[in-house]
Amino acid sequence: MTTPANFLSTVGAACNLQPGELSSVYDRCERPGDRFAFKDQDFNEIEIGYIERIKGEHDEYDREENPPQVDSPGLHIYLHTAVPLERSDLWDTGQFIRSFVDDSGKVQDLAYARFRTRWWILEDGHHLMAEVSDYQVDRVNELMSVGIVQGDLNRNGEYGARQSDPVALLEPGRPEESYLIARLRGQMQGESIPGTRMPLANQPLSIPEMLALFCFVEGLPTDQTATPSGERPINYEACSYSDDPEALNLLGEGVTWTGRVSKILEANCGGCHGGQSPSADFDVLSDEAYDNVVAASTQMPDMNRVEPGDPEFHDIRTWIENGAVEQ
Ligand code: HEC
Repeated sequence: MTTPANFLSTVGAACNLQPGELSSVYDRCERPGDRFAFKDQDFNEIEIGYIERIKGEHDEYDREENPPQVDSPGLHIYLHTAVPLERSDLWDTGQFIRSFVDDSGKVQDLAYARFRTRWWILEDGHHLMAEVSDYQVDRVNELMSVGIVQGDLNRNGEYGARQSDPVALLEPGRPEESYLIARLRGQMQGESIPGTRMPLANQPLSIPEMLALFCFVEGLPTDQTATPSGERPINYEACSYSDDPEALNLLGEGVTWTGRVSKILEANCGGCHGGQSPSADFDVLSDEAYDNVVAASTQMPDMNRVEPGDPEFHDIRTWIENGAVEQ
């Protein structure tokens, strides 16, 4: 998002799909997963929830002596519904299927990848494990690199795409439903968003900046064919958020000491107020950072560094009267 063109490409783009951590994927960013079927078994394709490749050496798996466990080395595929097969294993070709829209606008199902091996059926059929022998490693690496779409990418059991439309980074006309904005606010339509509130330890966006973003997104052409332009000025007059910018909830839910405030202090102040000998004996990096913030000042012992409930220090007159601070 470092150039304007780059930023404009986020309009309508699927949100949050190259996660750092799987648990930070928002359910509503999940897309309908690709589907799985065996070539020689007769059952309907089943949506893929998620795939996990567990690397490692393994002895020959065996039905009685050495059946694979849920975390045995192999290629694990978790499915939305159980495969309807009354057996523990089979040799077959696993097929990965996706629907494409062809040039004439028709939806076509295409088996875009295949893997032939011995498959094990685990956990009532919701979980398949493909054996990966040494000679198959390249084949599996190839398979993992084609980008199989996983319907339950965050592995929490919710197939988010089913609940509602998937969410885009910037949804033209609908800032409240744009994931990029939701990450800045910590919530979307009243539902809190997993992952740290952006922009991490940096200054949160100011109300005018947030208003600009809201009004920019609200003013984007909702017509699918129109290309968003970086030249069009933001129309604040027509923007429905102009009247009450405070309601943009910049400061509401999601701003906590641990989640936000302590990080701002750590990033901006920790260089001096931390380590072996913190400046003014004021340490914002220790586990006692919060207590240190509301403790008495080293230089002005009659005053707290932060007076709880009194951010603007309205009591200053009392302090002056008491001679604690000079006027
Ligand atoms: C470059 C080093 C440096 C940075 C960065 C820095 N400080 Fe300081 N700070 C000091 C020094 C040195 C003192 C003590 C001397 C003074 O007051 O000038 C001090 C004193 C203070 C005091 C008074 C402490 C007391 O108990 O009397 C507070 C409060 C304070 N800083 C807050 C902050 C905050 C908040 C930040 C970050 C936004 C910050 N400082 C960043 C060096 C720094």
